[in-house]
Amino acid sequence: MKIAPETLNKASAYKLLTGVVVPRPIAWVSTISPNGVANLAPFSCFTFVSADPPMVGFNSGLRNQQRKDTARNILATRQFVVNIASFDLLDAVHASAADYAEDESEIEHLGLATHPADVVAPPRLADCPISLECVLDSHVPFGRSGSEFIVGEIKLFHVDDRLIVDGKVDTEILQPLMRLAGPTYAGLGKVVRLQKATEIVDRR
Ligand SMILES: Cc1cc2nc3c(=O)[nH]c(=O)nc-3n(C[C@H](O)[C@H](O)[C@H](O)COP(=O)(O)O)c2cc1C
Repeated sequence: MKIAPETLNKASAYKLLTGVVVPRPIAWVSTISPNGVANLAPFSCFTFVSADPPMVGFNSGLRNQQRKDTARNILATRQFVVNIASFDLLDAVHASAADYAEDESEIEHLGLATHPADVVAPPRLADCPISLECVLDSHVPFGRSGSEFIVGEIKLFHVDDRLIVDGKVDTEILQPLMRLAGPTYAGLGKVVRLQKATEIVDRR
């Protein structure tokens, strides 16, 4: 099947892309509004964009032609925390995407425990094994949809000591939650370890 983008409307292009770019990690983003209301929402259009300095980014779309609370809070306060959930937090991650009013805190509604962050104002989630304290670097709109890619510089990594094996994050201990298309998720599947590609000798 060949699909020309000009034959797709916004919704069908979104469906196709979220089926193609899989699995996606999830940034579970906590922010705080200028009025002090803590907000939490998942964003699976998420990746890291730089190692020096460490930076992560996620894409926030519009809802009813308006910025989502997360994006609005970040642009107002320039601070956010990206929490990384393990698979056992699936129900809370999913529930936190419901449409809460701007002055309602998903964190309070869901009864999630938090710790104060060290360098930014939004709280970090106590049950997440990894949290990244971020300061806004840039926000870039793409295309005609009004969605914006929000990039933050990581000012502090919190990593549960139990995840660290031989100086690295052990993915099998982390058991990350991943998103597929729509309300479909996946856990870690088969893990295969190969020799480093740069160490493979060309025998031709
Ligand atoms: C697992 C998951 C991933 C999501 N990823 C995105 C995303 O990448 N971009 C986006 O704009 N919305 C995404 N959403 C929808 C937002 O989480 C949802 O619109 C949420 O209500 C926004 O909350 P806020 O208004 O408090 O920021 C996702 C939802 C779920 C359940």
